Parts: sequence; structure tokens; C-alpha cells
Amino acid sequence: MAVKFICLLLLINLHLRLSFAGSNSMESVPDLQKSMYKVVDGYPCVRLLNLSGIIGCSNPGRGKVVAPIVRFGSAAVLSDLSAILVSLHEFPNFFTRLSNDSTFASNVGGLLVESGSGLRNKLKGFSPEQRFPQVEFAPYHSTGYEWNPIGSGVMWKSYNFPIFLLSDSSTKTLQEAATKNEKSKKAYPAEVAEFDVVMQTVKAGTHDSESCLQEETCLPLGGYSVWSSLPPIKISSLDQSKPVILAAASMDSASFFRDKSLGADSPISGLIALLAAVDALSQVDGLGNLNKQLVFAVFTGEAWGYLGSRRFLYELDMRSDAVGGLNNSLIETVIEIGSVGKGFNEGVKNFYAHTARVSSATNETLVALKHAQKSLRSDNITISSASASNPGIPPSSLMTFLRKNSLISGVVLEDFDTAFSNNFYHSHLDDLSNVNSTAIVAAASLVARTLYILTSDKADLSSSAITSINVNVSLVEELMRCLLDCEPGLSCELVKNYITPTSTCPTHYVGVILGEPSFKPYPGYVNDVPRFLWNFLADRTSIPRENGSSVCQQECASKDEVCIKAESDGKGVCVISTTRYVPAYSTRLKFESGIWNVLPSNSSDTMGAVDPVWTEKQLGIQLA
Ligand SMILES: *[C@@H]1O[C@H](CO)[C@@H](O)[C@H](O)[C@H]1NC(C)=O
Ligand SMILES: *[C@@H]1O[C@H](CO)[C@@H](O)[C@H](O)[C@H]1NC(C)=O
Ligand SMILES: *[C@@H]1O[C@H](CO)[C@@H](O)[C@H](O)[C@H]1NC(C)=O
Ligand SMILES: *[C@@H]1O[C@H](CO)[C@@H](O)[C@H](O)[C@H]1NC(C)=O
Ligand SMILES: *[C@@H]1O[C@H](CO)[C@@H](O)[C@H](O)[C@H]1NC(C)=O
Ligand SMILES: *[C@@H]1O[C@H](CO)[C@@H](O)[C@H](O)[C@H]1NC(C)=O
Ligand SMILES: *[C@@H]1O[C@H](CO)[C@@H](O)[C@H](O)[C@H]1NC(C)=O
Ligand SMILES: *[C@@H]1O[C@H](CO)[C@@H](O)[C@H](O)[C@H]1NC(C)=O
Ligand SMILES: *[C@@H]1O[C@H](CO)[C@@H](O)[C@H](O)[C@H]1NC(C)=O
Repeated sequence: MAVKFICLLLLINLHLRLSFAGSNSMESVPDLQKSMYKVVDGYPCVRLLNLSGIIGCSNPGRGKVVAPIVRFGSAAVLSDLSAILVSLHEFPNFFTRLSNDSTFASNVGGLLVESGSGLRNKLKGFSPEQRFPQVEFAPYHSTGYEWNPIGSGVMWKSYNFPIFLLSDSSTKTLQEAATKNEKSKKAYPAEVAEFDVVMQTVKAGTHDSESCLQEETCLPLGGYSVWSSLPPIKISSLDQSKPVILAAASMDSASFFRDKSLGADSPISGLIALLAAVDALSQVDGLGNLNKQLVFAVFTGEAWGYLGSRRFLYELDMRSDAVGGLNNSLIETVIEIGSVGKGFNEGVKNFYAHTARVSSATNETLVALKHAQKSLRSDNITISSASASNPGIPPSSLMTFLRKNSLISGVVLEDFDTAFSNNFYHSHLDDLSNVNSTAIVAAASLVARTLYILTSDKADLSSSAITSINVNVSLVEELMRCLLDCEPGLSCELVKNYITPTSTCPTHYVGVILGEPSFKPYPGYVNDVPRFLWNFLADRTSIPRENGSSVCQQECASKDEVCIKAESDGKGVCVISTTRYVPAYSTRLKFESGIWNVLPSNSSDTMGAVDPVWTEKQLGIQLA
């Protein structure tokens, strides 16, 4: 579980004497103090460390910050420490000013960012990401290319003041306070904000991941990826020799405000399309008699250095239990579903197939996609090869596979060609309203049929088998409500059928890895979403047991079985399925005797050499 910071932001309604003349007077009147505080909620920008530095926000080490609230627009000159209220459309100006005006910069005590639904329409877009996200991992050298032209990169910098995204209701409260201060003709403003973000203060002297890991004051970013196969691979029979078609998606996103990382278009639309495709394919009979093996992988930590896909390939190299039954050299084709939720324009669903290079296997995948599209003709779906002038594939897990083996055949399906169509990439505004279920259903249909065509080596369009593969539209809509909204959010029936979620509002931030990484992790150390995905995939890909149902708590008797739904009613069921967790964390880290050690970079691990090894400060790790 990600250890949550409690974000506190207090608004004090009192006179300057109390706020500036020291705290003693306040302590002597606790009742008065109580009535003057108003707790305001928001989402913090947090401090993260890497091997060479820090990013994000903090309290500059003086304990609490107390400063009057001033609206950015009216703050032509800041002569005192101020808490600045800013609207997102003023964000670029704020950061320009910060870097350009040192007096201004030294008087910023904290930044409060307004939220509100009307905001999106005022903005052309908002992305705190780089213009080429994670460029250092790209398998090509056009580093100046801009996949995300709107990106400002502000989330990768370090700020020595706290920054909060306000909730809708607290935005109103703070706006009123700022207005009061503007109207006030007194020498001192009446409304001040107090930031209590002591929890995020980095201990002096700890400025990088290696030292905080040694001190045990931080934990590596990471979590659990999930993979599954259809039909299950019989590990006990050891005759697994079919070529593998791997369909992949990511489950994690990022944002300037950690706990507002929904990533609706990028990448959750692709994840939902994959889940719906698995559901559709699970209803096809006779998949076991086909020529190839279908494998599904959902990676986490992809937004922080492709942690999930890199660790997955590493575990394959090591032939570890986490990937038992899978043979690296049998992976023939990788089909990744990237951002697909915006592939919708005037009744037509448009998608682009991005490939690394032309090979016969890649051609086969493109041909299969075309066939799938034709079989869905009445649905108005178009699929095009991405522009040949692109420098290569867009940021995606496929980059990991290509860096490992440049000859692998791979395709990434996206809703854009030369630049992201998501104008809110890696921002809190990439939410439910940024995607369209119609596009996700279309992508799922396309992928389900393409996978079937590739697996069967058949391109018979009239085949009733192909046309009988149909995506459940209600399932897509339900997954969107569960994974991209707070109501019902993770307390939706579909999720509750499998797990007992720890929170209702979903967040797709990767989190930190707790305890020893394991392919049979303690469930309390696995986030809600991967736990749901593991159960969902195990259930949909399962085949019934020979001897009827068997109740379980954790383990099942056979190696080929897994215990699903164990946590929702305490009575799990054993089903035959090859579904496993794979820990996702940097290949530069090793957990030994309870301590995380940073490994020297290894020339055979080219992505490891550029891995920043991100860690997050911990106050104290609470065991569940
Ligand atoms: C920095 O400030 C100067 C003068 O105050 C201005 O001319 C210049 O354009 C500013 N630079 C940026 C990048 O805004
Ligand atoms: C993996 O597949 C390759 C190619 O078919 C085969 O040579 C190799 O023995 C397999 N490895 C394992 C561990 O089964
Ligand atoms: C792939 O297809 C293109 C056109 O569709 C063709 O020109 C090319 O020769 C094919 N390449 C291989 C390796 O099959
Ligand atoms: C397909 O797209 C065309 C052109 O945008 C539109 O006129 C037509 O109504 C669409 N058909 C369906 C079934 O959505
Ligand atoms: C989503 O698609 C439907 C058509 O299926 C369309 O009517 C609607 O306007 C779209 N919504 C957005 C936000 O694009
Ligand atoms: C489609 O999905 C919905 C929502 O999950 C579910 O209630 C329904 O039974 C599914 N329909 C079929 C035919 O699987
Ligand atoms: C089913 O039950 C029979 C008799 O108890 C047993 O021999 C067999 O191993 C069981 N099969 C499985 C798959 O558990
Ligand atoms: C470097 O990586 C390779 C392959 O992953 C591994 O076999 C080798 O032991 C590693 N070398 C070191 C020094 O860790
Ligand atoms: C670590 O973060 C700093 C920002 O403080 C950045 O300049 C540096 O490039 C990052 N290191 C790596 C290896 O990415």
C-alpha cells in the first residue's frame, strides 16, 4: 500500500498579532485557536529523490509556513512571504516569474492551485511532463522530438516550498480569503494560510536515493505488475513450446500532484481496452487448439523508468518463479495498447499502429489489424500505420522490449500519430471527461479480433469465429466508473466481487514497494488496482477444475491453480489459471537482509544505466 501523507492546510482567521507575533499567545488560548482554524483539503506535490538529486516540493525546513494569501494576478510585487493562490492557466507565468525574479521567488511561501470543472475549457492543455517523456530510455536518438508539445516539464524540478492542488470546495474558501485580503485596507492582511507539511521535509544531508535507502528513510518507487495467459499454461506438463503473442498495457500514471494521477487516457484507456479484450476472448472456445499462446501483461511503474516491463524481462532472464511457464525466446510479437480513449472524431474511431521497423512479423501484425478492422466494418473504425517521418515509437513499454532485443516484432496502438492527442498528459486533468467509452470499446474490439487472428494464423474474414468475438460495452463502461471515478470508484460491484478495496477513489500512482519483493506478495503490500487486476485476469482466463470447486484461503493444492476472491468474502475459490504478480522495481536495486542496495550499473542493462532510481521519503512504514 502506498503510505499516504496526510495533507494538511490550515486557514487561520485571525489578526496579524497572533500570526506573526509568535505562537505563545495562541497556545495560551487553545479554544480561541480552535475557532480560528479551518482545515482545508488538497493534494500535495511530494518530494522524490533519485540517484543524483531531488524533484518535487517541500517545506524549506523551518517547520510550519505561515503566510498571507495573495492572488497571483494581483501579486505584482511580493514584499513579504506569501501563500500564492494561482489558477492553472496562470501556471506558466508563475513558473517563468519564479525562475526570472529572485525577489518574487524568495517570497513564495507556498502555492495553492485552484481546481474547478470550468477550468478545462479555459486551457488549451496542461501537461507538467517533458515534451519527450522519458527520452533517455528511447531506442533512438531524436531526443529533440516532441511527442508532448504542450509539456512544461515542471514536475521534474525541485521547489523549496509546498504546492497543493485544492479541492473544489477549498478552492472557494481560499478565493474568498484572497478577496478579503485584497479588500482589506489594513496594513496587514487578515487571512493567512498555514502549511503543515512537516512530513515531507527531507532530512538535511539526504539528497539522493542511495543515501536515503541506506538510512532507511525512503523506499523505492515500485509495485506489482500482473501477467496471465489464455488458456492457462500447464506448468506441470512442461511442453510449452508454442510461440507467444504478448498483449500489454500499463496500469500506472503520474502527475504533479501524486494522489491525483488518474491517467484516464494515458494509460488507463489502454488497460480497460485490454481487460475488455481478454473478457471477449475468454468466451471463445478452442483457443488451446490454436497455434500460438496468448499472454497478457499489465505493467506498473512505467511512468518512472519503465520499472515494470524492465523487471519483467529481467525475471524472464533469471527464469524466476514469477514468470514460470514463460520462455523469453518464444515471445514472437508484442502488441501494446497505449492511449486509446481519445480515438474518436465525428463518428469515426481512429487509431494508429506505431512500429519500430518493418519486418515480416510486424507486417503480419499490421495485416491482422487491418483484417480485424474490416471484420468490424460497420463500426466505422480506421486503423493507420503511424507516419513514417516519426523518429520511432512513442514513449511505451515496447521501448523496453526493443532495447532488449531490437529484432522483436512489436506494435503500439495509440489514438495519435505524430504527437499526443491527450492535451493533459500526466496531469490531474486527464480524468474521466478526457476519454470516450466509444473509442475504448472500438480499440478493445480491434485488439480482441487481432489477437485471435494472430493466434490462429488464420485470416479468414468470413470466419464466424472472428465475428463472434464481441466486446461487452457495459463491461467497458463499468470499468471506467470503477477505475476512473470516485463514484462508485473501487467500491463498484465488479471490484468488490474480487477484493476489499482500501479506498474508494482510485489513484494510479505507482506507490512504493513495501517489504521484500515476492511473486507471492502479502496482499496488504499490493495496491488495490493490481489486486483487482490479478483476480479479474485469473477469473476470466480460468478453466473449471476437474473435481469441482474447492474453497481456499490463500493456496491451492495444484501448481496450476490459483485462489481467487479470497479477500472479498474470506472464502476463495481455486481455479486453474496461469496468473501471477511480478514485482516492479528498478533493476539497479537489490533487497538484501531487509535493506535496499543500489547496484553498480551493468553494461548489459542499457536502460539500468540511465535509470534515475526514484525513491519516496517515508515517515515510518506502517505494517498492515
Ligand atoms: C525576465 O525578466 C525580464 C525583465 O524583467 C524580461 O525582459 C524577460 O523577458 C524575462 N524573461 C522571461 C523568460 O520571461
Ligand atoms: C525456450 O525456447 C527455446 C526456443 O524454442 C528453446 O530452445 C529453449 O530450450 C526454451 N527454454 C526453456 C527453458 O524451456
Ligand atoms: C512489409 O509490407 C510492406 C508493404 O505492405 C512491404 O513493402 C515490405 O516488403 C514488407 N516487408 C517484409 C519484411 O515483409
Ligand atoms: C460513420 O462515419 C460517417 C462519416 O463520419 C458517418 O456519416 C456515419 O454515420 C458513421 N456510421 C456509423 C454507423 O456510425
Ligand atoms: C463520446 O462519444 C459519443 C458518441 O458515441 C459522443 O456523442 C460524445 O459526444 C463523445 N463524448 C466526448 C466527450 O467526446
Ligand atoms: C457485460 O458486462 C456487464 C457489466 O460487467 C455484466 O453485468 C454482464 O453480465 C456482461 N454481459 C455478458 C454477456 O457477459
Ligand atoms: C480428482 O480426484 C481424484 C480422486 O480423488 C484424484 O485422483 C485426482 O488427482 C483429482 N484431480 C485433480 C486435478 O485434483
Ligand atoms: C549484468 O547483467 C547480466 C545479464 O542480466 C548478468 O548475467 C551479469 O551477472 C550482470 N553483471 C553484474 C556485474 O552484475
Ligand atoms: C535526478 O533529478 C535531478 C533533478 O533534481 C535531475 O537533474 C537529474 O537528471 C535526475 N537524475 C537522473 C539520473 O535522471
